[in-house]
Amino acid sequence: MSKHLSVIVGSMLGAAEYVADALEDVAKRAGYTVVIHLEPDLAEIPVDSRWVICTSTHGAGELPDNIQTFARQVKQANLDQTQAYIIGLGDSSYDTYCYGAIEMEKIILEAGASLLAPPLHIDVLNHPIPEDEAVVWFENILADQ
Ligand SMILES: Cc1cc2nc3c(=O)[nH]c(=O)nc-3n(C[C@H](O)[C@H](O)[C@H](O)COP(=O)(O)O)c2cc1C
Repeated sequence: MSKHLSVIVGSMLGAAEYVADALEDVAKRAGYTVVIHLEPDLAEIPVDSRWVICTSTHGAGELPDNIQTFARQVKQANLDQTQAYIIGLGDSSYDTYCYGAIEMEKIILEAGASLLAPPLHIDVLNHPIPEDEAVVWFENILADQ
């Protein structure tokens, strides 16, 4: 598989977008080409690439608006060729902590994708600068793979 990453962002207020930008920097330093999808559309995202899904949770455990269409598209897709990383942002004071990331994990696995690492869930209550957590996690992962 080529060293290309499709970064798929689910964000309402921009925090997950900052994390995606930081992950892009890490990946580029490791020699990957990267495309960030802020309005993800499956028609524009190769299924035979590595995906990084970076999403927050809103409402009562719901996905951000901008990634909901993509989530519906994935339910109809065959992702047998897709390998993915998942990073969730959430606030542990909600009962529905990181449900958006958990939902995306379930949807892509049901569509046949495989995970390249256990998902990272970042609690913004304890980590006010979530990209710092994400960068350390992703640097370690890419160094091993
Ligand atoms: C209205 C609202 C609802 C939220 N609901 C949840 C939730 O159900 N579960 C959770 O883990 N975090 C929840 N959060 C926390 C957000 O996921 C967190 O603040 C995240 O950093 C926002 O990222 P974003 O700016 O990319 O959307 C909620 C935040 C807001 C403002």
